[in-house]
Amino acid sequence: MTRPTNTLALFAAALLGAIAIGVVYGHGDVNPQPVETEGLPELDERKQENPYREAGGDVYETAIRIGERGYQANCAACHGLGGVSGGIAPDLRLLEPGFDDEYFMSKVLDGARGMPAFDGVLDDEAIWAIKSWLDTMHEDAMEERYGR
Ligand code: HEC
Repeated sequence: MTRPTNTLALFAAALLGAIAIGVVYGHGDVNPQPVETEGLPELDERKQENPYREAGGDVYETAIRIGERGYQANCAACHGLGGVSGGIAPDLRLLEPGFDDEYFMSKVLDGARGMPAFDGVLDDEAIWAIKSWLDTMHEDAMEERYGR
């Protein structure tokens, strides 16, 4: 009678595996991931408007590139990959480039119901980089930038 034991052992192993995966991924999703902001001008004070969009050119392009990675690592778990929300949290593509800068900053710094506060967790540089990338996902920016 080894069969039932084996089945049970297998089942237990599978269950443990599933729990381990759940812990690793579940945790990793919400745990803040450091964002490497090298190449972006440092900010010496808190801004209410995206300083990198204002700077334009290479600085803005660098911010967009860094921001995409920062978003995928820290926000996508709730707000959706590519900024397309699955419904758990608001679709951030609806935020207006420029117009919603201040609102964006306050939400990210202070958090909200169901969302952790990122003040002191992510640098302002990283947060503005994320906003820079999100702006390119706004419907008004999509056609100009990506031709769709
Ligand atoms: C653990 C899940 C979670 C994570 C991680 C998360 N958010 Fe949120 N976020 C939410 C939820 C839920 C709301 C809606 C809160 C409410 O209804 O008040 C929200 C709201 C927001 C809002 C306001 C949107 C609106 O339309 O009013 C902004 C901006 C925002 N999040 C940005 C971010 C950014 C940027 C990140 C990554 C740095 C992030 N969030 C990470 C869950 C999350």
